[in-house]
Amino acid sequence: MGNEIRVRAEGTGARLTVKLSVTPKVGVDSLKAKYGVTKYDLGQGYALPESLKALVPKNSPEYVESGNNYVERIIRALYYFKQAALIGPSGTGKTHIVYLVSELSGLPLWEINCGLQTSVYDLFGRFVGLGKENWIDGQLVSWCRYGGILYLDEANMMKQDVATRLNPLLDTRGHLVLNEKDNEVIPRHPNGYVIISMNPFASEFAGTKPLNAAFRRRMSVWVDFDYLSVGARISKDEVDLISKKANIPPETSEKIIRVAAELRKLYKNGDLPYAPSVGDLVNWGVLVADGLTPTAAAEETIVAVTSDEAEIRGTVRRIVQMVIGK
Ligand SMILES: Nc1ncnc2c1ncn2[C@@H]1O[C@H](COP(=O)(O)OP(=O)(O)OP(=O)(O)O)[C@@H](O)[C@H]1O
Ligand SMILES: [Mg+2]
Repeated sequence: MGNEIRVRAEGTGARLTVKLSVTPKVGVDSLKAKYGVTKYDLGQGYALPESLKALVPKNSPEYVESGNNYVERIIRALYYFKQAALIGPSGTGKTHIVYLVSELSGLPLWEINCGLQTSVYDLFGRFVGLGKENWIDGQLVSWCRYGGILYLDEANMMKQDVATRLNPLLDTRGHLVLNEKDNEVIPRHPNGYVIISMNPFASEFAGTKPLNAAFRRRMSVWVDFDYLSVGARISKDEVDLISKKANIPPETSEKIIRVAAELRKLYKNGDLPYAPSVGDLVNWGVLVADGLTPTAAAEETIVAVTSDEAEIRGTVRRIVQMVIGK
């Protein structure tokens, strides 16, 4: 099953060497089975250009799903509709999963953070030097030509001039017209997929606005992300993940998760500007594993990461003490 064995014969005079090599595809196949996505092949018929190999993610960390089947839902959406929208609070693993989906599909990942001041020139391309000889494709144009997964992070922060030019491309039969380059028409590559993501709780971050309506209409599937543990819901999978990644006993990890679940609830209610992700909790656990008390380790990690403001830090500290004690 995907376990391809290559036999190469090299002959030099009378000597014959036979080399056997097992391709790493085996790993991807078993991962696809694990996430239940073997029947959706996004890379069907795709020939990965040598120059884009570096854009295919490798060794993505494990993604803990706890029954949400996010990976399957996203890959299925891409398979049938070519695009999907991910919506959920900060730190719920949206970016992580996009890397994993690219790796599983063997497709290059074109990542654009719409919150940054990326210009139309950066995205579409430009002539360099004098005259009209040397054109350099921007990321969007490269994706359109060569295929892969276009990941538009923080899509609701996209500037209007970029959104306007992107819209026609988001029709599945779409194509891109490069006005800048003698109106060259570039059809959307058959293996060109789009994932957009955004954070609905980002009112405290400047620049967030409702997603452009034309854009919204073009997304067929919306996958809602949430934390593994929030409020009274404590996920055993998350407890185990932190325990394994930080190398701390499950009892300690469970306390950490209880604190996190409470902070996440407050964040979702709008009472805190940020809530800890799995990654933040691993950092907390690593310092505990090194010998710090959980309270001291929290001070350097989740207390500090939540905010610079003394009052907010006080709230986080109180919750840590309430759950963990002194
Ligand atoms: N279910 C999960 N399994 C394993 N790791 C996870 C999971 N969810 C989040 N993480 C880890 O938590 C950290 C934050 O995740 P990520 O950056 O993907 O979140 P995000 O949803 O993209 O956040 P933002 O909206 O701020 O961009 C990463 O280190 C990621 O690996
Ligand atoms: Mg992200």
